[in-house]
Amino acid sequence: MSSPIPVLTIDGPSGAGKGTVSRLVASRLGWHYLDSGALYRAVGVAASWADLDLSDPAALVRCTFDTAVEFREQADGLRVLVNGTDATGELRLETTGTVASAIAAIPEVRAALKERQRAFRRLPGLVADGRDMGTVIFPDATAKVFLTASADERAHRRHKQLSEKGVSVTFDGLLREILARDARDAQRTVAPLKPAEDAVLIDTTGLSIDQVVERVLALVPARAG
Ligand code: DC
Repeated sequence: MSSPIPVLTIDGPSGAGKGTVSRLVASRLGWHYLDSGALYRAVGVAASWADLDLSDPAALVRCTFDTAVEFREQADGLRVLVNGTDATGELRLETTGTVASAIAAIPEVRAALKERQRAFRRLPGLVADGRDMGTVIFPDATAKVFLTASADERAHRRHKQLSEKGVSVTFDGLLREILARDARDAQRTVAPLKPAEDAVLIDTTGLSIDQVVERVLALVPARAG
């Protein structure tokens, strides 16, 4: 039986605009927001703090169970606490994304995070952002979106974002990292990155954020018509 609590899933590769679009859509709907990538990143940060060997799956699984992650809405935005320490800045680093992607390929890690993600489904509704929200975590979602954009466009957006934050990286390096991460996320055997059969595909290349937000909102039944 499907849950009466509505969920909108927004999946897609990194840099497709999921984070920005999901946050805006959640705020327009007045719904909760789940940044599932932040959970994988939080485990990555905890693993780095503990100096764990990334080729030791058993240690990483233990670390997943042992890591407390707390999302705190503050005036300056959403803060993420890992084992009680504010790790918001560290969470967004490219290096953390790479560690998270490696950790996310371990089936037991994904299983350990499943219920934690489902616990975000609370009234009046949830916007869930990730890679497998529509396929694995919320297969009975009210509406499913798969956002894409060309790798080139995604690298440009990421480059702009990082430059604005004063982080200096080369465009070519970013493009290489994005392509490598896409390949890893799409090829892993458990929950590979792919659209749910009933997801609506939106290619955001050349679209403004507002245009994407409007297209996504039009898919939520309560707002249609
Ligand atoms: O969306 P993000 O860049 O914050 O995600 C970081 C990594 O976590 C990404 O490379 C793949 C993994 N991830 C995942 O496997 N499943 C999710 N639902 C979200 C993220």
